[in-house]
Amino acid sequence: MAVFLHDVLQSRHAILRNYPVVGHLRYLIERLGPELRQYIVASDTEERPFDRVQRSWVYQVSKGQNSYQGFGTAAPIETTPDYLVIRHSPTPLSAAHPEAHDGTHPPLTPAAKTLGGPRGRDHAVRPPSLIAISAMSFGSLSSAAIKALNAGAAEAGAWHNTGEGGIAPHHLQGGDLIWQLGTGYFGARDADGRFSMARLVEQCEAAPVRAIEVKLSQGAKPGLGGVLPAAKVTPEIAAIRGVPLGVDVISPPSHREFHDPDSMLDFVEAIADATGLPVGIKTAVGQTAWFEELADLMAAGDRGVDFIAIDGGEGGTGAAPVVFADHVSVPFLTGFPRIYRIFAERGIEDDVFWIGAGKLGFPDRALLGLGLGLDMVYVAREAMLSLGCIQAQECHTGHCPVGIATQDPRKVRGLVPSDKSVRVAGYLRSLDAEIVRLAHACGVAHPSLINTEHFELLDGHHDSTIATQAFRYDPAWLERRTSRMRDRVGIGNLA
Ligand SMILES: Cc1cc2nc3c(=O)[nH]c(=O)nc-3n(C[C@H](O)[C@H](O)[C@H](O)COP(=O)(O)O)c2cc1C
Repeated sequence: MAVFLHDVLQSRHAILRNYPVVGHLRYLIERLGPELRQYIVASDTEERPFDRVQRSWVYQVSKGQNSYQGFGTAAPIETTPDYLVIRHSPTPLSAAHPEAHDGTHPPLTPAAKTLGGPRGRDHAVRPPSLIAISAMSFGSLSSAAIKALNAGAAEAGAWHNTGEGGIAPHHLQGGDLIWQLGTGYFGARDADGRFSMARLVEQCEAAPVRAIEVKLSQGAKPGLGGVLPAAKVTPEIAAIRGVPLGVDVISPPSHREFHDPDSMLDFVEAIADATGLPVGIKTAVGQTAWFEELADLMAAGDRGVDFIAIDGGEGGTGAAPVVFADHVSVPFLTGFPRIYRIFAERGIEDDVFWIGAGKLGFPDRALLGLGLGLDMVYVAREAMLSLGCIQAQECHTGHCPVGIATQDPRKVRGLVPSDKSVRVAGYLRSLDAEIVRLAHACGVAHPSLINTEHFELLDGHHDSTIATQAFRYDPAWLERRTSRMRDRVGIGNLA
């Protein structure tokens, strides 16, 4: 009885609040997991989408636990094709911020580029961190999860993307927002469901919106719209999304406000004029002629998107048909360089603020993304892991056992936002610190000075390819990016 009461009343562990007493088994099994799996089930790197090594790292750093490893790497670095190696400098830099032991935290590393700067937007801003929480709507995530993510982002000093479900009161815990506009224009639609600029402006004035993201597609389900069944449309969700109660809520596959890059640029410029905010797009990568047309229009004219967020086909979702998740759109490491090259070939890559998503919430992959040209990294499921997600993969059923991807009040009760926000902040800070530490090991003071020369990919047969060659980047692009970034971060060193 005492254990039951303790479990139900404590606030640190959602599993124990929702499954008192028996929930302890999960911790026991987790502790014995490495041994059990090593002999019986799977290896540390077999689980998907995130393996045990990745998940443990997020859990440990979120809780402020020791994430070091003893005895050396367990990764098969000599035999794995495309194994990523970061090329350190013989003369690494010392830490700018020695670790604080007084409970204070240095601010996160700001992005090097100003978002909206090249197009002179009224509210152009240099984002305060290289990492932001990626789009996940209230509706797909619980109110408690959204609160914890936003409060954690605020505590660490990072931005939080609303997802396409509109701005909920749960998003207003102090964290600055990127407001995502999907094809349903939720929160910015009139009574007929059409986009309403007046509603958009009104909402932007009422919330700390720093940028607007027009969502074209998402890596896990590109080319698909969405349906929120009437049964799931609570009065709260109906009010936030600006939709009627009692009917299915449809997000069509395409935007009604534009149909090609030309008309999209008009839409983007109209939003930027009305709000003064930087406006960008989020998209997965399939056919590329569309992006070539966009780049041609931007190179030739005076309209443009302020940022492009590229999502990988390996990205997450609340729910998607398996074939779309598995086979539609290319992974981030294929898609992002492809689009970046289109802009770099036209000499306009610096006019765009680049964001990426697709399992980038780990120091090695985040650094590679930055080296490929990203200005900011989005993290979605990794942020869920920091909230206590156990990768049950029940997001589409509403039965998420830890209260994150569910609207079931009994499950949501388990997640205590004030407790979990600290973990989100801990995760964001640790990811930032590791990225900076890697940059210093490479001999550069800011992660935006990292480029493709800082990586090689092993071939599993004792040879390797430098990333510049593997991703077909022109060395001239690296030089011009590095010199611009050096000017921006005010630092003269380069490995
Ligand atoms: C539960 C869930 C809900 C999501 N909702 C949205 C959404 O509303 N809009 C969107 O553009 N992407 C959405 N995504 C995709 C993420 O924002 C992100 O692009 C993708 O998961 C890749 O990042 P990750 O590998 O760090 O998870 C969602 C992902 C998850 C897991």
